[in-house]
Amino acid sequence: MKSLKYYYRDCLKNGYVLGAYNFNNLETLKGICLGCQRSKSPAFVSVSEGAFSYMGEEFIKNLFESAKKEYKIPIFLHLDHGKSFEICKKAVDIGFDSVMIDASALPFEENMKLTKKVVTYAHKKDVVVEAELGILSGVEDTVDANSDIYTNPQKAKEFVEKTGCDSLAVSIGTSHGAYKYKGKQKIHFDVLEKIEKEIPNVPLVLHGASSVPQEYVQMINTYGGNLQGANGTAEATLKKLATKHHIFKINTDTDIRLAYIGSLRKYLKENPAVFDPRKPNGTALEEVAKLVEHKNKKVFMCENKI
Ligand code: G3H
Ligand code: 13P
Ligand code: ZN
Repeated sequence: MKSLKYYYRDCLKNGYVLGAYNFNNLETLKGICLGCQRSKSPAFVSVSEGAFSYMGEEFIKNLFESAKKEYKIPIFLHLDHGKSFEICKKAVDIGFDSVMIDASALPFEENMKLTKKVVTYAHKKDVVVEAELGILSGVEDTVDANSDIYTNPQKAKEFVEKTGCDSLAVSIGTSHGAYKYKGKQKIHFDVLEKIEKEIPNVPLVLHGASSVPQEYVQMINTYGGNLQGANGTAEATLKKLATKHHIFKINTDTDIRLAYIGSLRKYLKENPAVFDPRKPNGTALEEVAKLVEHKNKKVFMCENKI
């Protein structure tokens, strides 16, 4: 099985990315793995701090180990948006392959200091570290949800050199959640190109990268939900970012949630007499697998990379 470090180099060399799919329960993890197995793709499976407390340390470890054995594909356990040294240390100690320290809401010097502390600890145990510079709206809206602050290319160079982080999450116009753009979508390719010039060898990470498929928005709205005006980044744009730039990891949570919940809503509405949880959950798992297979093959271009 190829290592995570292999993919750090190979993605940039050969123009594809690894999906980083968030999971919150058995079904979302199995759906992600099944999709990856079908497309023969490696992937990150990501756990946010919220997912960490929802599932608990023991379940996360054991679900992940079981998934690796069951699906026999390269999956890498990743901590998503770790906000403190303590949570990153915990993830390293229990065997995560990769951690993100997200100190992007802190002033530059403090972000560097905390990031470096995590890097020093994680590297001793051979765990890779993703850091972030710039602010995305959504989950990071301790700042101001409406004002994206894009990554400064010069500062990115200093940041990476001083902290020794392995990859860098950049802010170029994407945002978290199901409501990404007020008007037309706007990705700042100019900012990205400047970053790539400054740090040509650093693998970059794109957060807030769901495309918010309208079929799922419609499904949710049709079967009792209310997601009026939800929108995301076009798949064609994501494909360009995945293949023509230095991005090596694309984070996707919202689309998994939409596929899962859309499918659950539809199943339950159409089958009012069913109360066996395996039926709606099994259908939702299959919908997640379909979504992941599609993304890997048509957007992230990581089919047959295992
Ligand atoms: O970007 C991060 C994820 O979407 C995390 O969401 O904190 O609700 O698990 P969560
Ligand atoms: P989305 O909300 O666009 O799926 O972004 C997820 C993400 O960035 C997780 O870190
Ligand atoms: Zn994110």
